[in-house]
Amino acid sequence: MWHPGFTPFHGNSCKMSEIIFKLPERLAIEFYLAIFITASTFAYFLCIRNPFSLSASFPSKQKRGLKDYQQVYNEIARRLEENLDYDDGSYGPILVRLAWHASGTYDARTHSGGSNGATMRFHPECSHGANSGLMIAQNFLEDVKVKFPWITYADLWILGGIAAIQEMRGPIIPWRPGRLDKDGSHCPPDGRLPDATRGSNHLRDVFYRMGFNDQEIVALCGAHSLGRCHSDRLGFEGAWTYSPTTFTNQYYDMLLGDQWVQRKWDGPRQFQGSMSQTLMMLPSDLALIEDKAMRTWVEKYAEDTELFFSHFREAVTKLFEFGVPFAEGIDRWILQPLRQSA
Ligand code: HEM
Repeated sequence: MWHPGFTPFHGNSCKMSEIIFKLPERLAIEFYLAIFITASTFAYFLCIRNPFSLSASFPSKQKRGLKDYQQVYNEIARRLEENLDYDDGSYGPILVRLAWHASGTYDARTHSGGSNGATMRFHPECSHGANSGLMIAQNFLEDVKVKFPWITYADLWILGGIAAIQEMRGPIIPWRPGRLDKDGSHCPPDGRLPDATRGSNHLRDVFYRMGFNDQEIVALCGAHSLGRCHSDRLGFEGAWTYSPTTFTNQYYDMLLGDQWVQRKWDGPRQFQGSMSQTLMMLPSDLALIEDKAMRTWVEKYAEDTELFFSHFREAVTKLFEFGVPFAEGIDRWILQPLRQSA
């Protein structure tokens, strides 16, 4: 025990050496013990109990189920009409176009391109002329990605297209996840998407390359019942139907029911309805009624909405799944439209 009578310079030198050497030794052990306990406690709270722990900031490897994807779907669906000043009041049509352009680059021969990868996030694909304007859809979905960081962009973009089609009262499109995100070195070459100024031979070149036939080409083009052309994107201007935020077979009715005359203007070659006046068609749309084999399908779909919906469902499911390395035996799920799950 320390005593004021003991000093290093007076009295019992043996006791002095005990004090000098044993005290710091004991203190050091206690000091290291204290550090160890504090560090362990800190690590425990940081990694296990703390919601801001490192493990939470990385996408989870946890297996996701139908309920998780339904939540993402609901978030997209609730926000489609959040900005009524945008276009015709819905982001739905541009989400469908993003899902189509992400998938429509697929090449069945080389298994390159397609919805697996979401490579349009990178140059050069995001600057390809055909993709003009699609940053709007990417930015819309980025806010959803922040809320559900575990979903891949590639799955999210296709889920966005499916949610948009279903919410705009189109057919139910079966869904299954499994797309991976890839970097810019996997961007497909420019020119794989169709050119709106060209005819049916060109459409066949593009769609046959993916693995489609004439009937499927006509069914897929029925998506032009939605949305519009924007002169500041690809140069064309106007909508195809009177209800651009509702998925219908009106596109085929308009193709057959109006007289299409070339529009007189400074922009690229497009057609104006003699009766509808405000509606338009692209040269590639008119190719569907100029080509005999394709026209047969236009007539059938104009007659029969159910047939169109069922053929569109089959073709678009193929389109969205080309080249995706789905896990063995993974089922397709049905995501409920908001109006039904409410
Ligand atoms: C046949 C070949 C096709 C051509 C040449 C073509 C061309 C175009 C063009 C030029 C636009 C206007 C883009 C703009 O100015 O914003 C457009 C819009 C659109 N396309 Fe296509 N398209 C084709 C096939 C498809 C397919 C297969 C789908 C879906 C399955 C689709 C869905 C859409 C939608 C929903 C819009 C409206 C986008 C919006 O309102 O922002 N298109 N397309």
